[in-house]
Amino acid sequence: MNTPPDKFTEEEAKAELAHLAETLQNANSAYHGDDAPTMSDADYDALKRRNQEIETLFPHLKRADSPSEQVGAAPSEGFSKVTHARRMMSLGNAFTDDDVADFVASVRSYLGLSDTAPLPITAEPKIDGLSLSLRYEDGILVQAATRGDGSVGENVTANARTVSDIPLQIDRPGLLEVRGEVYMTHSAFTQLNARQDAAGKKIFANPRNAAAGSLRQLDPKITAARPLQFFAYAWGELDTPLATSQFDALAALQSLGFQTNPLTRRCETVPELLNHYRAIEQQRADLGYDIDGVVYKVDDLALQSRLGFRSTTPRWAIAHKFPAERAWTLLEAIDIQVGRTGALSPVARLTPVTVGGVVVSNATLHNEDYIAGRSADGSTIRDGRDIRAGDWVQVYRAGDVIPKIAEVDLSRRPEQSQAYTFPDHCPICGSAAIREEGDAVRRCTGGIICDAQAVEKLKHFVSRGAFDIEGLGAKQVEAFRNDGWIREPADIFTLRARYGPGQLTQLKNREGWGAKSADNLFDAIDARRNIPLQRLIFALGIRHVGEVAAKLMARSYHSWDSFAAAIDGAAEKHGDAWDGLLAIDGVGETLASALVTAFAQPAERASIDRLVAELDVQDEAAPTNHDSPVAGKTVVFTGSLEKMTRAEAKARAEALGAKVAGSVSGKTDLLVAGPGAGSKAKKAAELGIATIDEDGWLEMIDGL
Ligand code: IVH
Repeated sequence: MNTPPDKFTEEEAKAELAHLAETLQNANSAYHGDDAPTMSDADYDALKRRNQEIETLFPHLKRADSPSEQVGAAPSEGFSKVTHARRMMSLGNAFTDDDVADFVASVRSYLGLSDTAPLPITAEPKIDGLSLSLRYEDGILVQAATRGDGSVGENVTANARTVSDIPLQIDRPGLLEVRGEVYMTHSAFTQLNARQDAAGKKIFANPRNAAAGSLRQLDPKITAARPLQFFAYAWGELDTPLATSQFDALAALQSLGFQTNPLTRRCETVPELLNHYRAIEQQRADLGYDIDGVVYKVDDLALQSRLGFRSTTPRWAIAHKFPAERAWTLLEAIDIQVGRTGALSPVARLTPVTVGGVVVSNATLHNEDYIAGRSADGSTIRDGRDIRAGDWVQVYRAGDVIPKIAEVDLSRRPEQSQAYTFPDHCPICGSAAIREEGDAVRRCTGGIICDAQAVEKLKHFVSRGAFDIEGLGAKQVEAFRNDGWIREPADIFTLRARYGPGQLTQLKNREGWGAKSADNLFDAIDARRNIPLQRLIFALGIRHVGEVAAKLMARSYHSWDSFAAAIDGAAEKHGDAWDGLLAIDGVGETLASALVTAFAQPAERASIDRLVAELDVQDEAAPTNHDSPVAGKTVVFTGSLEKMTRAEAKARAEALGAKVAGSVSGKTDLLVAGPGAGSKAKKAAELGIATIDEDGWLEMIDGL
């Protein structure tokens, strides 16, 4: 395995490519399909690199199933898909007592409740399993579905029927979807692994992986032999409410035959919530199953429905996580990655270590201040201890995603170690890397001459929320760019003309491609010429312009031409176009400046124009998602509101398809003025804009 590939004979190269294809395929399906990683990220990357190296030396030996062509495993086949009647939401996280107090304060403020008005909130353990939605029609379990991406999950009905905590029948007519968590107890997990081991089969990393792997067995007999359990804690679609409070709804579920968690409490104050959190934390080790926090939910269901949802999380609930698991390891090196907007991001390369059931080999170091032990405001972090290559560091996973460094052990620091010097030049293109005042991040000034920025921009351009061209992923654009086939996004759309049929060099003759796949790619590219405005704006990869901002722009300007004209017009950062941009609710100076700056750079602007010339941009129609009288209208709220808070009014209006603006202009359709309305009401009167009061507004949207 350690022969350098350039010393290989063809036979050896071929054999090793076969071996690598198999090993990487197994690792992939263990990771994605079986929920049980078998290899560290670093080992996986090393094998992929070796595969790439051999393929570069022996291009003609590249296999049809080459790992270099694969981006993770396909979603598991074998289960049919289920579209959830109501989305399965996730939860926002709280990590500190202050976060919990902030959550309660934000609920109060949204609802316009005083600090002393009663606001019962339930607290219950957050079960570390996988969520499941059970659909009962006239008392019969007709379907069980996993969460999936929240909208579409997998149909695991046959498997769910084997779980003894899940009743096959309940005494309740009509429709009810019961939601909760499937989990495995510690003892069941230990026994399962012992049986697996004895049979020479795969060992599961933790009970959650074991539960997920067991529920997603294609053969329900296997699921039946693996003791799974279920706690009910929520519901989806139903035709009659279960109760009027969260607490009573759980009691109702219990009397229907579901297990609900016995540690659920209804609390009245923040200190009471925190006490219960600590009580649960104390019992954590003795529960016999894994929990990873405590979930708080506003108890009153009428208030829950007033609070509603953000895009993926409810406003009425939050998960208070237990402190993350930590582990010590060696920091081998500090690398700098250059992102799409030129940000230099330091990354710690670690000796792989298991943290909370996952192998970690990289951690973010945020920025140069963080490495030096200072925070942006000049105060110290880690009591001012800096981080160096060669240090022993303690890592943890924050919010269960990107690993971070919590501590550094100075007693183990090597004597000759040197403080890290953050580069002041881009490690990729050599341009100066500067740090603007007030910015924690140092950025490469190379713009599109910087390879790293250009590649990251292209990767972003073809990513999911952007152009998402079938067959043209991050790998392919990178390869095309390396060979000079693509320099900027517009070049993607001229690929057929340059490398299609009849050309000297053709895509179909390229390594890894054939006539069919080349044709498919050209077609997929052409299909994307017709692109929604929002996707185009997002795809440009302008700093601060994520999917939400792109959507806001598309909704506000409707067409590419008016959007571009508005941003060009705002170039001076004063005047009507600039004010108009800032008047859009949700647009602040940072976003507005970022747009203006991007459009004002001649090279970047020319590149955008070349792209748009290749496209047929779909206008964003004014939203007509509801038959509501305010759909597509621009509404301004002013003065004080008495029956709802400003935030609630705004969220309701937007949910009904209205645009909420912060100031009155010729584009305003309706002013809702409460007592104390001043200059805005005056201006609206001058402009002849319809003005109503709060009651008029509530009447207008009544029942919607
Ligand atoms: S409530 C709309 N309650 O945590 C809110 N979720 O991080 C729906 N979870 O996807 C969730 N225990 O799988 C709720 N007592 C509990 C929970 C719980 C575990 C899981 C659930 C959810 C995830 C969100």
